[in-house]
Amino acid sequence: MTTGTTTAPSGDSADGTDEWWRDAVIYQIYIRSFADGDGDGVGDIAGIRSRLPYLAALGVDAIWVNPWYPSPMADGGYDVADYRGVEPVFGDLDQAQALVNEAAALGLRVVLDIVPNHTSAAHAWFEEALAAGPGSAQRARYLFRPGRGPGGELPPNDWRSVFGGAAWTRVTEADGSPGEWYLHLFDDGQPDLDWTGADVREEFRSVLRFWFDRGIDGFRIDVAHGLAKDMALPDLGADEEGLLRAPDRSAHPHWDRDEVFEIYRGWRAVADGYDPPRMFCAEAWVSSPERLAAYVRSGLLHTAFNFAFVRAPWVPARLREVIDTSLRTHAAVGAATTWVLSNHDVSRHVSRYGRVDQAVTDGRTATGAVDVELGRRRARAAALLMLALPGGAYVYQGDELGLEEVENLPDEARQDPVWVRSGGRERGRDGNRVPLPWAQRGASYGFGDGAAWLPQPPHWAGLSVEAQEADRGSMLWLYRDALRLRRDLWGAAAGQLSWLDLGPDVVAFVRGPGVACIVNLGAAPSPLPPGEVVLASAPVEDESLPPDSAVWLRTGRR
Ligand code: BGC
Repeated sequence: MTTGTTTAPSGDSADGTDEWWRDAVIYQIYIRSFADGDGDGVGDIAGIRSRLPYLAALGVDAIWVNPWYPSPMADGGYDVADYRGVEPVFGDLDQAQALVNEAAALGLRVVLDIVPNHTSAAHAWFEEALAAGPGSAQRARYLFRPGRGPGGELPPNDWRSVFGGAAWTRVTEADGSPGEWYLHLFDDGQPDLDWTGADVREEFRSVLRFWFDRGIDGFRIDVAHGLAKDMALPDLGADEEGLLRAPDRSAHPHWDRDEVFEIYRGWRAVADGYDPPRMFCAEAWVSSPERLAAYVRSGLLHTAFNFAFVRAPWVPARLREVIDTSLRTHAAVGAATTWVLSNHDVSRHVSRYGRVDQAVTDGRTATGAVDVELGRRRARAAALLMLALPGGAYVYQGDELGLEEVENLPDEARQDPVWVRSGGRERGRDGNRVPLPWAQRGASYGFGDGAAWLPQPPHWAGLSVEAQEADRGSMLWLYRDALRLRRDLWGAAAGQLSWLDLGPDVVAFVRGPGVACIVNLGAAPSPLPPGEVVLASAPVEDESLPPDSAVWLRTGRR
């Protein structure tokens, strides 16, 4: 029955190394929407602290917190005004330290989000650059250029913002005259830094040390593939590439250029200077698995998000292929693979998998009718698939509750710059950022004391933590069971994965001695091989696996 073997390097810290990240499950906290400790409608550090016992009981190894730094919130905090502080709406440095300490006491590691491609326009460096004027050292930290055309009234090139519109904005100089243009691959409140400068490089190494000294275990690197630009700033030509569209060209002028690796070599040296060493995870939207693997070569970053897995539709051959390719390309460079189903930039996977047309499930561009119950059923199976695979995994807050994308938010509630900059053509990402329901009652279902910053659908009362705790068959209990069993069942097998051939509709594999993960993506029940069902995403009867469900099976074959 075994049809092939793919291996990944062993990542277990049981081997005495500190490489905990090789098989860790990391829970992503979108801080504005996780838990509101002070009743202002926005999540905060106090809220996270109050829910740490929940996360420890869930069974994750670490939390990754989206940016909590001072910010005008032009892009939900990805516009950082001060990399060494905490946004007052979220708390302060003392609270951040208390969170790190309390998490450590519960056995949870803390990963932060560093945003090196751009600062906020409210960052002191950018304000100094505006004041200092053309040709100054202060402007050289960013990408200021004169415009084209007789009066410089045209942008320096044709690059587009990922969020829509031109990637350049013209400034008014101190004397009131129309002046230079600055580059922003995202919102105009997010000016891109020029990473060829020594002070930019030293500043970020210093920021890393600032947080590592406070006990932070690692960083997720925002737009890790964007820092280096072709400094000739050539036109792109007609180009529809956005953040989620992998650049399909060998030398793109602003995505995934080889010059970024030298930056990360320096960062790795900083992380390795700590005991235990700190870790990095790259957010890199790149064109191929081989290019992704380049970020996690020896001496560079530890891990990278596996967006190919996010993009794979609920189609057996596609999933098998993504799994195989991910394991093979990572093993080739000695790195651990990661797996992720949802995050704060893509449509929640309950809705993606629930789309009637699986051909259009590509991240946030997904469109078409959604069968949420189908999506939820598949999401249960997908959780068992992901948590059985070799490597680390990311759980986005609310995945464990089976939350769907909220696609009918009122327009006036939307805050994503994607919505604003596209002139309402793209709904943007607010629908995956709706605050979590913790309780069945209350103004924001236990998120906080008052109304939440985005409205929650009333039926989420039934998906609240409180409701799901009372239901042993809930998604929450499935995650708890899977996370409790995961290390015992799959941990010992390290990176081994051998495919089982149970027919074209079934994705099935064994790892190590006698445990199989079997997922039926077909429309008909699929007979199970002999064995003991340890965990199932749906009731299993007559030794057959229902459609859109998964089991972990002890096969007894050793
Ligand atoms: C983050 C996004 C953010 C963008 C700009 C990303 O890829 O995950 O949420 O809008 O970078 O910082």
